[in-house]
Amino acid sequence: MLSGEGLTMRFGGIVAMAEVSFELRRGEILGIIGPNGAGKSTLLNIVTGIYRPSSGEVWLEGERLNGIPSHRIVSRGIARTFQSSRLFTDLSVLDNVIIGRHSRTRSGVFDAIFRRGRADRELAESAAIAEELLKGVSRDLFDQRHRAAGELPQADRRRLEIARALASEPKVLLLDEPSSGMDDADTDALMDDIRAICAARPELSMMIIEHDMRLVAALPHRVMVLDYGQKLADGPYEEIRRIPRVQEAYLGRKAAQHA
Ligand SMILES: Nc1ncnc2c1ncn2[C@@H]1O[C@H](COP(=O)(O)OP(=O)(O)OP(=O)(O)O)[C@@H](O)[C@H]1O
Ligand SMILES: [Mg+2]
Repeated sequence: MLSGEGLTMRFGGIVAMAEVSFELRRGEILGIIGPNGAGKSTLLNIVTGIYRPSSGEVWLEGERLNGIPSHRIVSRGIARTFQSSRLFTDLSVLDNVIIGRHSRTRSGVFDAIFRRGRADRELAESAAIAEELLKGVSRDLFDQRHRAAGELPQADRRRLEIARALASEPKVLLLDEPSSGMDDADTDALMDDIRAICAARPELSMMIIEHDMRLVAALPHRVMVLDYGQKLADGPYEEIRRIPRVQEAYLGRKAAQHA
């Protein structure tokens, strides 16, 4: 579905990513773990065209994505959430989801000005689809659809970001630390939501960057471990967690931090 080959990213003297290759299959959930600064968000930024890699290539269904601007990458079928919230806090929950659909609707500036009919029709259609989508992601969010996004509790905001990304009907969904700022109960609810999203969309592929090991142990089919921009391991959680280098680089260090 999606792959990266030999991805390297330099910022001045810093090598944020060194020769990382990965593969994501259709319908697969790939977890990405690693200490702070390991290059996890950098990888998502490369895949979504926000960063242009110093070298290496990204492929989606056999097409090379390098050099394609990020808004076009969304219409190719890759949607994401960000590590820090990027909702339009003054707009309603529903409007935020409608904006997420923007890449799918065809009305451009021309239509908006000269053929209002089509733009209006698409807006009404987008609103109806956005409502359905919200209902599917979270009944609770749906009930709050007319509230300003900025009034939502943190956990609901993160949920809304996922709904907004899904609104573009992606083939690949990338989540950057979806559980950050959540307590255990919120994280459990988030895991249920993600399971429901996958069950409703068996073809959807996902990459999830996470620090919460309960989520990493439960959801991904496979976990890729990054450390200092390098790939340390890639495999089922039960396998990678036993690799001494992984324990030392991440699990051990994290355990030490939490001790
Ligand atoms: N735009 C940038 N300019 C300069 N350096 C950057 C830039 N983006 C990332 N880096 C550097 O690249 C390295 C990897 O950063 P990245 O944000 O990918 O880490 P991460 O694994 O997502 O960490 P975290 O868990 O803290 O989110 C860090 O050293 C970071 O400072
Ligand atoms: Mg990050």
